[in-house]
Amino acid sequence: MRKITVIGTGYVGLVSGAGISDFGHHVTCADIVESKIKLLQEGKIPIYEPGLDELVDRNVSAGRLSFTTKVDEAIQQADVIFIAVGTPQGENGEANISAVEAVARSIGKNLNGYKVICTKSTVPVGTGDRVCELVRETMPEGGEFDYVSNPEFLREGSAVKDFLWPDRVVIGASSDKAFDILRDVYRPLYVNEKPMVHTNVATAEMIKYAANAFLALKISYINEVANLCEAVGADVHLVAKAMGQDGRISPKFLHPGPGFGGSCFPKDTHAIAAFSRKKGVPMNTIDAAIITNNDQKKRMTEKLKNLVGGDFSGKTIGVLGLAFKPNTDDVRESSSIEMIQTILDGGGKVKAYDPMANESMKKVFPNLNYSHSWEETCDDVDAVAIMTEWNEFRGMSLEKLKKIMKAPIVLDTRNILSIDKLSEHGFQFDNVGRKKYYDS
Ligand code: UDX
Repeated sequence: MRKITVIGTGYVGLVSGAGISDFGHHVTCADIVESKIKLLQEGKIPIYEPGLDELVDRNVSAGRLSFTTKVDEAIQQADVIFIAVGTPQGENGEANISAVEAVARSIGKNLNGYKVICTKSTVPVGTGDRVCELVRETMPEGGEFDYVSNPEFLREGSAVKDFLWPDRVVIGASSDKAFDILRDVYRPLYVNEKPMVHTNVATAEMIKYAANAFLALKISYINEVANLCEAVGADVHLVAKAMGQDGRISPKFLHPGPGFGGSCFPKDTHAIAAFSRKKGVPMNTIDAAIITNNDQKKRMTEKLKNLVGGDFSGKTIGVLGLAFKPNTDDVRESSSIEMIQTILDGGGKVKAYDPMANESMKKVFPNLNYSHSWEETCDDVDAVAIMTEWNEFRGMSLEKLKKIMKAPIVLDTRNILSIDKLSEHGFQFDNVGRKKYYDS
């Protein structure tokens, strides 16, 4: 059993801390935000993430997991320290690593023996060197440490599962000793023969960006294919299905939609684009993925506008789904934000509903008419835009939907409704990359 401290209790820190304690280690999660730690100490989870409350409960009860604001003490008592603080997008698109730097200085000051310092936050390549430099500058004489980059690949909504059953664990270690210690931290996974990828620090940092940017690129690619399908009368679902049957392509991340959102892809694509330019090796493909994604969000607003006759003025639109994806309450960079803003700017009104994210969206749009069910949202509206593929929207009764709406008009940006059924029930509709039907 190792003594671990995780600094930062956001999605990544909290899921990682709870997950590592579940592997049998003694974990302290530390954060300077007192309100968050107070909630956690009271047994409340500040974010919605399926399975996280149970994982935290189990390990707190077993005495393996605790929470503190005393960051210095937490560093002193640990063998391994994970840095999991935020790296928001900075002015020039690059990730802002000032919180990581501040933590590095605190670790240096509190280095009371050999420790492994491990970064989980997504940071530009080269940040490992900077962390080591800051620790060396601030540590007492004779201080000893090794550095590891251990990027996370957690998807919101399935982060607990992704942590406990990962495809691989990437360990970019500055020494074999540090690699062995990290492998021991992840021992249950190692024993289960999950691949442990041992690299140097820069390679591990690069793997994270290369993987995320590739997935974002894949989404932008299928979105452009979908748009072309519309122009040539092809069905993107069948195109994506047959593409995915080629093992070299794989069917994952080939779902067309309203453009990717969330806390990672938008930020990480901008960051890799910015630091690749800075290094003199610009990644044109990633620049293109970003442009396509912005265009896709706009394209969805144009589709809705066309469906309602070219003008939002005086219209009430029901927006179903506010989160950037299902099973989360996170609305960061969600395509629904641009959709709602465009409707409001065009003089329309919005009735909005998300099974989990109403409260989060209230911080962005405090004055919308928020509903508590799809039926309430769609009652007496001029059109409905489906923005997130929650299961409860897949199961909507089209018969009932048609009855309660002022006019049967639907934009399905996630392609979750059956085109045949929409036609049968006499809807006017549009989607992404499939057959549409409306009077233009
Ligand atoms: C992502 C990565 O998947 C994860 O490995 C990383 O560490 C963090 O970033 P996350 O942002 O939680 O995870 O969600 P993800 O499931 O990847 O979806 C991101 C966005 O892409 C969402 O807006 C989603 O709707 C969109 N998406 C995803 C598509 O439009 N089509 C797809 O096929 C897949």
